[in-house]
Amino acid sequence: MKNWISTLEFEPLLLLVLLILPVAVIWFARKRSRLSLPPGKQGFPLVGETMQFISAYRSDHPNSFMDERMEMHGQVFTSHVFGETTVFSSDPDVNRHVLQKEGRLFQSSYPSSIGALLGKNSIVISRGPYHKQLHSFTLASFSNQTVLRDCLLSDIDRLIRQNTIDAWKDGQTVILHEQAKKMTFEIAVKQLMSRKPGEWTDGLRRDYGLVIDGFLSIPFPFARLLPFTIYGRAIRAKLRIAQQIRSVVTEKIRGFASGVRSDVVDVLDKLLMEEGIKEEDKAVDYVFSLLVGIHETTSIAMTCVVKFLTENPAAMAELRKEHDKIKNQPDGGGFTWNNYKNMMPFTQCVITETLRMSNIASGVFRRCATDVDIKGFKIPKGRKIFASFRAVHMNEDYFEDARTFNPWRWMKKVDEDETEEDSKKKTATASDKKRLLCVFGGGPRLCPGYELSRLELCVFLHYLVTSFTWDAAGEDSMIFFPTIRTVKGFPIRVSHRSSCK
Ligand code: HEM
Repeated sequence: MKNWISTLEFEPLLLLVLLILPVAVIWFARKRSRLSLPPGKQGFPLVGETMQFISAYRSDHPNSFMDERMEMHGQVFTSHVFGETTVFSSDPDVNRHVLQKEGRLFQSSYPSSIGALLGKNSIVISRGPYHKQLHSFTLASFSNQTVLRDCLLSDIDRLIRQNTIDAWKDGQTVILHEQAKKMTFEIAVKQLMSRKPGEWTDGLRRDYGLVIDGFLSIPFPFARLLPFTIYGRAIRAKLRIAQQIRSVVTEKIRGFASGVRSDVVDVLDKLLMEEGIKEEDKAVDYVFSLLVGIHETTSIAMTCVVKFLTENPAAMAELRKEHDKIKNQPDGGGFTWNNYKNMMPFTQCVITETLRMSNIASGVFRRCATDVDIKGFKIPKGRKIFASFRAVHMNEDYFEDARTFNPWRWMKKVDEDETEEDSKKKTATASDKKRLLCVFGGGPRLCPGYELSRLELCVFLHYLVTSFTWDAAGEDSMIFFPTIRTVKGFPIRVSHRSSCK
């Protein structure tokens, strides 16, 4: 020790080096990581450009944050939002790469509030082999064509009829988003746990509303002791829901163990008996997060499709013509699997266009699991990336007149005079556009409810347009933060169509 100090006394140069070296190392390391990032601004200290990001989403032009920066820096740029330097991409190839390489080059990354509310065993938070198992199980349970046709369609059909044609009176004003949430939630609870609609499902649904409000709030310890905060209310609601789900799980596990039951009738039965996931906590987290996925997404799509159709009489007329033809078939019409697959080409285009325009998931956050090369930039391990789907869907270079609702853009036009070569070109253009469309994500975390939600939307549109006409009941406008919705839930005044009375 003495020697070391005396060396310092006699070697002022060495002292200088020892003091300067760490500073220099940090400076070079920072410079390296900055140099390797795409161009962009860091904004104000600490908050970065978070306010600009949020205020864009709060305005009528949610894409303005991306548009302005893309113009200055290109399709891949850097900003600083929600406390972190983040790389933004509006390049469809980069986005696809980010989605496909999930689990290898990138890891999904959610705010800690979402992780705490969903639970560590949730499909959204889990990783590795357990995530893989849950994901393929969920895909098989909700987007497999045979399961949808033979097991799920009859419940979807019945519950949508009950919530529309059996419920709506002539001249009634319906808050569409509320009604849509009710029906999609009832369908989900029936499919997951065989529970029928009633007070139990209504109570659960109210609590889900509180949980979702808490998703983008700031988490803090002992939150449940502070129910006057958004996060505190969300945590308490989560605990109430988890308790309700747990009682169903326990009852099912006991039923199977004692031999009282052996029949597998719903998704939770399958999870317990066929997937062998018998731990209560895992089953509860699974059901809990599935209901979150279902609660907010398809119901918003239902609201948006009605809004877009209300504002586009030509699309409305063509859609109605397609469904009247189905209804007036000699066998009495109705919604059948065959009709869904073969008789609704325009409806499918209306749904695709609605999903493109509404951008229910405007993009996904990921974190680099290692140093990653993107478009010649080296993004360091740990850095956050936002792959923006909205920026692609709203880009005029990819979709002509991108801000206009135009379901016909998805139709393969039949032209009798066209050559085989022309026809090939059209097909290529249509599939190019489909390649650019990314409403359900992709790769290992592709939305496992993608086919279920399309089917629900088709059934809903069928009964809506064949049984009712409607007008918007007053002004309403879209908001985009924290999720897309309309301010008033899009109230409509419905009238029974005389032919259906
Ligand atoms: C219009 C309706 C819907 C849209 C736009 C939508 C969109 C998405 C997107 C973009 C993702 C990917 C998230 C990511 O990569 O991090 C996702 C994941 C997910 N979605 Fe959907 N979704 C819809 C409906 C549904 C439905 C009906 C279900 C019910 C089965 C569902 C269940 C899920 C689940 C469980 C995940 C997480 C998958 C995983 O992390 O492995 N979604 N959804």
